[in-house]
Amino acid sequence: MSALNDTFNSDLTPYLEQQQNKQLLRFITCGSVDDGKSTLIGRLLYESKALFEDQLGQLEVDSKKLGTQGDELDFALLVDGLSAEREQGITIDVAYRFFATDKRKFIVADTPGHEQYTRNMVTGASTADLAVILIDARQGILTQTRRHSYLVSLLGIRKVVVAINKLDLVDYSQAVFECIEADYRAFATQIGLHDIQCIPLSALRGDNMLEASPNTPWYQGPTLLQHLENVPLEQARQVEAAFRLPVQWVNRPNLDFRGYCGNVAAGSVSVGDRIRVLPSGQQSEVSAIFGSAGQQQTALCGQAVTLTLKDEIDISRGDLIALADAPAAVADQFEATLVWMDEEPMLPGRPYLMKIGCRTVSMSCANLKHRVDVNSLEHLAAKTLELNGIGVCNLHLDRPIAFDAYADNRDTGGFIIIDRLSNRTVGAGMLRFALRRAQNVHWQAIDVNREAHAMLKGQSPRILWFTGLSGAGKSTIANLVERKLYTLGRHTYLLDGDNVRHGLNRDLGFTEADRVENIRRVSEVAKLMLDAGLITLVSFISPFRAEREMARRLAGDGNFLEIFVDAPLALAEQRDPKGLYQKARRGELKNFTGIDSPYEPPVAPDIHIDTRNESAETAAERIVEALLAL
Ligand code: ADX
Repeated sequence: MSALNDTFNSDLTPYLEQQQNKQLLRFITCGSVDDGKSTLIGRLLYESKALFEDQLGQLEVDSKKLGTQGDELDFALLVDGLSAEREQGITIDVAYRFFATDKRKFIVADTPGHEQYTRNMVTGASTADLAVILIDARQGILTQTRRHSYLVSLLGIRKVVVAINKLDLVDYSQAVFECIEADYRAFATQIGLHDIQCIPLSALRGDNMLEASPNTPWYQGPTLLQHLENVPLEQARQVEAAFRLPVQWVNRPNLDFRGYCGNVAAGSVSVGDRIRVLPSGQQSEVSAIFGSAGQQQTALCGQAVTLTLKDEIDISRGDLIALADAPAAVADQFEATLVWMDEEPMLPGRPYLMKIGCRTVSMSCANLKHRVDVNSLEHLAAKTLELNGIGVCNLHLDRPIAFDAYADNRDTGGFIIIDRLSNRTVGAGMLRFALRRAQNVHWQAIDVNREAHAMLKGQSPRILWFTGLSGAGKSTIANLVERKLYTLGRHTYLLDGDNVRHGLNRDLGFTEADRVENIRRVSEVAKLMLDAGLITLVSFISPFRAEREMARRLAGDGNFLEIFVDAPLALAEQRDPKGLYQKARRGELKNFTGIDSPYEPPVAPDIHIDTRNESAETAAERIVEALLAL
């Protein structure tokens, strides 16, 4: 055992150097406080002496305060003491802890077991090679055991230790242990977990934690620490895999040198190998490899390297370098599993950012195929994913990316989802496979394009996007603008929410998900009309910023004017041209904008019309002027 606390107060350098050369095992622990998880981690940390002196001091004080008997330290306090668990009785976030033995160093991700914290577990598990799943010997397999195991399998962890704990409380019964082991193995096969080691434990008493316990003479397997020290590392698999280098940045100090830097995510490459750059598909040959200690002949999985190539080809951050004869696939539509991590639900059709490797692209999810009930593993129908929801759906990206299936490579097949407006990480996902239609549907080049249409009509096509509450006056103003443009000999078309909802969008209602889809469709239609050379007026409540931004991106920034028809709720409600506010107030109309469904006003609209102070007529004149000046 290393003695961190001995060296900690003196010079750390020799200690750190010694650690550097050891293999690293990352693992995650799953279970609840009641299963003895904190005690188990606490004991591992304590026994490997990877404790900070002051933490140890604190532990002794706390144990005394809580009246722990004799010399027994309360190991659970050590782990819990670092989080809010002490005050709240639950652990709320992922905590990473480091410890080391003579053989290996370890990073353990400690995540809480409660259902609402799926996202924490996903965070902790995404980098782990192994999972320790705790089972209380008195209870056997519980719903949470199934849930944790499912998530572990979903996140690509192949090695599982089933820590059958508190065996002292069932008199170290071999029968109890074997019964739980048999149950677990039967279940694990169903979810694709095969590499399983069950260990009879008492984390509290120390049985089979470090040394084989005399209380379980019937158990011949390794102790927990022996297993963690000797289990083959998962990296071994990635070493065998095909070479992948996601390009993190291009190093170009002068015109004579152009190096591509990144971490080798899988496999290896040597000087002289033919490579292929994805998604472009260009080929070249590796001319040199630079590592931390200067030039090297080969770059191995896990190393941070810089490659130079024989030919000058165009490579930028986010591209993937692979071997020419074993390239990754390239696609822009996928089936993927998503884990939602945000309070705001996932909305199909809404544009999000996908960060995969070093690349960030725009993506949206099509309708969910199903949601998974993590407790029963049932597939259920669903429209959206709520916080901690897991589901399968098709994804559409705005450009092709190089990828591997997550099952083959977590680095090139796993991604996170970021909200475009808030920049929050709202989900994580795993690519399953590319959709065949992604390969079979191509853009058709059309000779009579937007410019040609526009020229014939003698005008610049634009989108005038009117947004505001129901009853704010959008349609009235849009109608006036269209009449003025008509008089000026312009070719226009007015898309109005109430009208489009009678035809193209008659299948949509007023839930958030349906409104997102409503605006997605109308944005696409408006873009087609733009291509046809028309000045297109769009008059929809369009309550969400994200979709209005999407419409702007689709149109191209310079072709799009966002017009905020601003009427305070009280005023719109007072006008109530269709009597809908009254209905909504009476509770006869659900999800009514401004009443029980949100409206996100534009932050910086191109034109702001304050309907309290400006007549529809002058507003329309102002809009026409702005359009003609564009
Ligand atoms: S949006 O939110 O999806 O952009 P859209 O502009 O298409 O809405 O439709 C709004 C029109 O539908 C309103 O002008 C109103 O006449 C009608 N309507 C019916 N139910 C609702 C509702 N729950 N919320 C808002 N508008 C509604």
